[in-house]
Amino acid sequence: MRDFVLLYVNGVEHRVAGDEAFVPLSDFLRYSLSQCGTKVVCAEGDCGACSVLLGRLNAACDRIEYVPVNACIQYMYQLDCTHIVTVEGLKVDGDLNTIQQSMVDCHGAQCGYCTPGFIVAMCSLFEACDKSGESCQSEKTEKPCAITREAVSDALTGNLCRCTGYESIIKAAMSVDEKEYKRLENLYPPATFVGAFKKHCDEPVFVKGSDAEFFKPTDVKSAVEYRSNNPACVIVSGGTDVCVNLNKGRIEPGKLMVLTHVAGLEELKTNGKVLEVGARVSLRRLEEFFQKSLPEFHHILRIFGSPQIRYAGTLAGNIANGSPIADSLPFLFVTGSEVEVAGVKGERRIKVSELYSGYRKMVLSEDEIIVRVHIPMPSQSTILKLYKVSKREHLDISSFTAAISLERNGEKIANARVAYGGVAAVVLKLPKTEEFLNGKTFSLDTFRQAGAIAAKEVTPISDVRGSKDYRLQLAANIMEKFFFESADEKELACL
Ligand SMILES: Cc1cc2nc3c(=O)[nH]c(=O)nc-3n(C[C@H](O)[C@H](O)[C@H](O)COP(=O)(O)OP(=O)(O)OC[C@H]3O[C@@H](n4cnc5c(N)ncnc54)[C@H](O)[C@@H]3O)c2cc1C
Ligand code: FES
Ligand code: FES
Repeated sequence: MRDFVLLYVNGVEHRVAGDEAFVPLSDFLRYSLSQCGTKVVCAEGDCGACSVLLGRLNAACDRIEYVPVNACIQYMYQLDCTHIVTVEGLKVDGDLNTIQQSMVDCHGAQCGYCTPGFIVAMCSLFEACDKSGESCQSEKTEKPCAITREAVSDALTGNLCRCTGYESIIKAAMSVDEKEYKRLENLYPPATFVGAFKKHCDEPVFVKGSDAEFFKPTDVKSAVEYRSNNPACVIVSGGTDVCVNLNKGRIEPGKLMVLTHVAGLEELKTNGKVLEVGARVSLRRLEEFFQKSLPEFHHILRIFGSPQIRYAGTLAGNIANGSPIADSLPFLFVTGSEVEVAGVKGERRIKVSELYSGYRKMVLSEDEIIVRVHIPMPSQSTILKLYKVSKREHLDISSFTAAISLERNGEKIANARVAYGGVAAVVLKLPKTEEFLNGKTFSLDTFRQAGAIAAKEVTPISDVRGSKDYRLQLAANIMEKFFFESADEKELACL
């Protein structure tokens, strides 16, 4: 068993052991390596000042794929077999790279605190394009490589600037000639990393610090064994929830199990009409997958956190975190999705809608971990609408979420499924509303009445994101919104 984390920073190898394996990457960069270009402002994944590029072996194991992540919520134990490139490491032959120079030329910085994060996020946009104009992600997306204003804005949603104003920053990105951008594979020839990672990423790692230990298993069996021997251990997948809680002191590091290299959990495949999502599949990969196959869910994923969060975070983590405002849950409830869990007694499946026993509590036994999520894909005849209500569109926590799915037999409604989030301690399925809708005429009046029933099925509270009354109003009104978005022209004309 290896007893250190192997990683590279700006091309230089590091072997990290003992207490140093239990610090955020941002601390390691700033305090151990004196690479202070990476800034820390919020320490909770919200501002992007600490963004770095994280490189891992691609699916074909022949190159390194770089994605942007927040270094403040990536702990060292998550980073075995990675190549980290910081803003310092982006320079070309000691000079600013074309994006860095463009930020200078376009006056894209004032205090400069956010600037390294913006540069990294912009580089990630250019890294995702290859010269032929196709995306070079492992899943081909047919996304053109044009650096449009929309693409730039999307890539920068995880980066906050408090003084410069976004116009000059966006202009800086759009002024870069893509052909002039020197890609990381040219700055850091991949052979060394590919060779080292292929050799070492299948090795289990166990590191003990003064107050904490972590285990990186490489197969489900040893993950379950460790979990059953250490039921209080914290499972770390993308870490976008866990590491915020660690930074805020809400959980003690204690014992941790990192799922990064557990074999089989990176798989994303369709099995008939069911999509199987491994527990380590990132939200970003899902976002790309659903772009064509289910735009409604793609939209929810596109406004989920920021690129930095989606590249690190997972669907399994969103489910296991069990927040009543987790954005994926209403969709998983109405599609009848299931989690596949593994424990010492073997594997079993549980409907996501039956997974929660209370606020952030799952019905799993102490040795069980989520290994896969099974999502039945809605049929062509299903009308599915998903809603996220938040104070702003991007990088915001939901005040209210909803999923409404049904089919139509002519004028009649069939197979209605409704789930709301942000209205109780857990996401709720609304059986009375569903029962009311089934067999009714598809009309505004029906959905108004359904809204009144839905509002009686929920028990929201008032908090910083919305009052109880506001949420009750949403619970009713969202039904009307569904009608107006789903009715055909004739039905609308009759109103
Ligand atoms: C800035 C920011 C923005 C965010 N925006 C959104 C948003 O828009 N919508 C939203 O819903 N969430 C949001 N989140 C929350 C978070 O990103 C998601 O919940 C994400 O899906 C968590 O996935 P992860 O892999 O990072 O989970 P982790 O942090 O690794 O784990 C989350 C929880 O699940 C447990 N866990 C993880 N994997 C497993 C497993 N395989 N089996 C059993 N237990 C497991 C962990 O122990 C932990 O309790 C945001 C977070 C941040 C920091
Ligand atoms: S410091 Fe704000 S995202 Fe890391
Ligand atoms: S330049 Fe000051 S925060 Fe962006």
